[in-house]
Amino acid sequence: MIVRQLKPNVYSLAAQDWDRKLFDELVPLPEGTSYNAYLIKGSEKTALIDTVHPSMAEDFVLALQKLGLTRLDYIISNHAELDHAGSIPAVLAAFPEAKVLANAKCRSLLVAGLNLPREMFGLIQDNHTLSLGDTSLRFMWMPWVHWPDSTVTYLEPDNILFTCDFMGSHLATSDVFADDEARVERAARMYYAEIMMPYRKHVMRHLERLTAENIAMIAPSHGPVYARPAFILDLYRRWAGDTPRPEVIVPYLSMYESTSKMVAYLLDRLMEQNLKVQPFNVVELDSGRFASSLVEASTLIFASPTVLDGAHPAMANAAFLANALKPKATHAGIIGSYGWGTSMPENLRPLLNNLNAEWLEPVIASGVPKPEDFAALDRLAGAILQANQPAPATA
Ligand code: FEO
Repeated sequence: MIVRQLKPNVYSLAAQDWDRKLFDELVPLPEGTSYNAYLIKGSEKTALIDTVHPSMAEDFVLALQKLGLTRLDYIISNHAELDHAGSIPAVLAAFPEAKVLANAKCRSLLVAGLNLPREMFGLIQDNHTLSLGDTSLRFMWMPWVHWPDSTVTYLEPDNILFTCDFMGSHLATSDVFADDEARVERAARMYYAEIMMPYRKHVMRHLERLTAENIAMIAPSHGPVYARPAFILDLYRRWAGDTPRPEVIVPYLSMYESTSKMVAYLLDRLMEQNLKVQPFNVVELDSGRFASSLVEASTLIFASPTVLDGAHPAMANAAFLANALKPKATHAGIIGSYGWGTSMPENLRPLLNNLNAEWLEPVIASGVPKPEDFAALDRLAGAILQANQPAPATA
């Protein structure tokens, strides 16, 4: 691990996890990830903000020691998940004088997750300021980005916001800063989709609070640092805001090509009208790309054949994911086919109860799609196009 200096008194200790393929055995990491901690050397006190994944604890402590620290006064825990808190015990073993500071919720989670005694933690309050001498840290509680304990820490007078998971990206990179904005946007969007999107109302509330701050730099605990904060703040406002973009996402699969013929027909009708579409075959679903596609899409159409009277299990899996992520789509629909009978739409629809969308008329074909099915798909395409018309201008 190498240490980079962000400011004369601020150091980044970023552990790059180049090879990690999955987070939580669930979230794909096409470009690995990093776990970033930050050290602040004030004129009187020294504080460490978060730590790194416990698998990298040894290197992390060595990096701290190479900085020539003779003592560490505080370990600030912005968030108790172990990819950031898991090396606290190793740091305490090297710097036993350090006091761990966390909010009450975070403390409870740390006590449980690290099996440490409750008495060893100091509590921080919302908007509380901690002096380090010539600099100070101000704590802002920002629950549900993405756990109930989430806190961000603001360093003054350098105006650096340490956000932990909030506004981060799963990206292992040698770049300290988010200079390659196209690459970082892709990674940050996928990260937002998988981690933050279910809590977008909280995201918007916290973004609103941050408008009162003069932020010079945003330093998250995954991915590179934002030296141009407006880049990520503007993206987050767009992603978490209520207004979707005209785009139709179609998770689908087919067993005997009936459903795939219906999907192809519907996509053609929409593309003819220049509406953006993105199908996803869910049999080998890339859940990261799929989640990312849901961030701004206006319309979701689930297309499945019937298996045992319901949706194919691969479709149920995709629906479960979409439902859990709570995208802001305003319209949704179900199409598909069956052999001897079906309750597929009735069985699939309850799996999507979190969608706050208007449901369009389903189109279900008996066997291969016939003229009346294509006519029904024409009507569905018309309804989708209507739903994606620009709102009329008001006087
Ligand atoms: Fe990166 Fe919620 O931990």
